[in-house]
Amino acid sequence: MYTDKVMDHFSNPRNVGQIEHPNVVVKVGDPGCGDAVLIFLKIDNDIITDVKYKVYGCGAAIATTSMASTMIIGKSLAEALEVTDDTVAEALGGLPEAKMHCSNLAATAIRAAVTRYLHPPEE
Ligand code: FES
Repeated sequence: MYTDKVMDHFSNPRNVGQIEHPNVVVKVGDPGCGDAVLIFLKIDNDIITDVKYKVYGCGAAIATTSMASTMIIGKSLAEALEVTDDTVAEALGGLPEAKMHCSNLAATAIRAAVTRYLHPPEE
């Protein structure tokens, strides 16, 4: 029921870890299932030069966060904001209907991180 790409990213997730001095770090969670992603971005001149994350979640959450991370490295902030749950699921060759919501987590984490970087909260 999962595509080979999903199984590949689930078994061998890319870019897992953390960045020592990130430009932004954000944690997002899905209150529906309790899964969560902590995402770190390194940004240079509006280009995402590195991304790392820690994911606490189901197999689809791991696979989609891994795929999403590969979709934004080397991309501009504007391009990263174009990553959606649908484009992540598509890049994985699709997800079972019941797991489509899991791709929200990665897309939401990216959007939240870029938004936080562009509009940091006032101290
Ligand atoms: Fe929570 Fe998949 S069940 S992200």
